[in-house]
Amino acid sequence: MKSLLAFAAVLAVVSSGPSLPVSQGKVICYYDSKSYVRESQARMLPLDLDPALSFCTHLVYGYAGIQPDTYKAVSLNENLDIDRNHANYRAITNFKSKYPGLKVLLSIGGDADKEDEQKYNLLLESPQARTAFVNSGVLLAEQHGFDGIDLAWQFPRIKPKKLRSTFGSLWHGIKKTFGTTPVDDKESEHREGYTALVRELKAALNLKPNMQLSITVLPNVNATIYYDVPAIINLVDIVNLNSFDYYTAARNPKEADYTSPTYKPQNRNELLNVDSSVNYWLAAGAPSSKVVLGIATYGRTWKLDSDSEISGVPPLHANEAGEAGPYTKTEGILSYPEICAKLINPNHQKGMRPHLRKVTDPSKRFGTYAFRLPDDSGEGGLWVSYEDPDTAGQKAQYAKSKALGGVSIVDLSMDDFRGLCTGDKYPILRAAKYRL
Ligand SMILES: *[C@@H]1O[C@H](CO)[C@@H](O)[C@H](O)[C@H]1NC(C)=O
Repeated sequence: MKSLLAFAAVLAVVSSGPSLPVSQGKVICYYDSKSYVRESQARMLPLDLDPALSFCTHLVYGYAGIQPDTYKAVSLNENLDIDRNHANYRAITNFKSKYPGLKVLLSIGGDADKEDEQKYNLLLESPQARTAFVNSGVLLAEQHGFDGIDLAWQFPRIKPKKLRSTFGSLWHGIKKTFGTTPVDDKESEHREGYTALVRELKAALNLKPNMQLSITVLPNVNATIYYDVPAIINLVDIVNLNSFDYYTAARNPKEADYTSPTYKPQNRNELLNVDSSVNYWLAAGAPSSKVVLGIATYGRTWKLDSDSEISGVPPLHANEAGEAGPYTKTEGILSYPEICAKLINPNHQKGMRPHLRKVTDPSKRFGTYAFRLPDDSGEGGLWVSYEDPDTAGQKAQYAKSKALGGVSIVDLSMDDFRGLCTGDKYPILRAAKYRL
């Protein structure tokens, strides 16, 4: 009788409620709508998302923006997002009928909103502007079937590292005398304004059924300054840490270095790595389950020249951003499929430009890079720091070891969505998902 009761108790536990998914980790997939207007192999249409979506718990549509004068949240490309021809907002949110568990959020900012960027600061200083933003943002999301809003706020960035040349140290001396200008002389006002914005947006979303609020912390935003964790953490469902781009050619053209080290490499700023960014949020009181670790699907590139150290070991001398990729067409950036194409030499053809040599990181602490030295004429040197499926998997494992809420993939259009590298579509997304 006793064992029968125990058996019944076990049955009751097993049958209560829906079964838990195998992995409870969130996989937040960013979709950058810019990819719609890229060319050739890089052009991504909504249909191309389909093979990714069974791996994603959330899909984040990037990006809406802010209208400078009215402070309303608006589409940055109405023709693509809203007008009947494309109606991309709807095309994306309609995936929910095929993937019922999927949450689709509309993200605002994300460095895609380039017109009059000062508006991101000014909005935080004005209660009226915040109200205009909140009301229009909730309406925009609701009208197009989104499950909530993601704030990828375009805060001022920390200054890049200064390199000391002879001239530089002289300049440094002068600056010391006169004092340095702060990046933002209204830091605390913006911090308080942002907290108010999150509170007001949360209150407005709460009036609607099942609307979520997430925030994305953009690269090189100093979270210590702008994010009052205890004040906002209970108001948001997810904190996406875009913990990459610590080092980029746009910020650091003369020195190439790991763009997203998990831990601090020797002799570097101790704050500019994934572990430090994560620990700020945890130490400030964020429950680890709300913190999601961002993984970039693109690499950051620099040109090497004849002054670059031939070992290729970072940090090393560089000279400007690497050339734009054939498809993504952005200086200093290559998508994962653009990188993988440079790592193989299918026919060992003579006379072809030398391909990149990949250097992996057995310590799993800093990441992978690949490079080639300049040729005799001093041309063609390239250095790239990037994620591949192995390092993406290691980052997912790191997220798991810290009991984080999951990972985000930034973004799907830069992953190998066509399966050009090995035949598998979305290799970075998959590798991260499997190790979570
Ligand atoms: C961020 O701001 C804090 C507080 O002002 C400062 O101590 C820290 O050095 C800053 N972090 C970076 C990476 O500049």
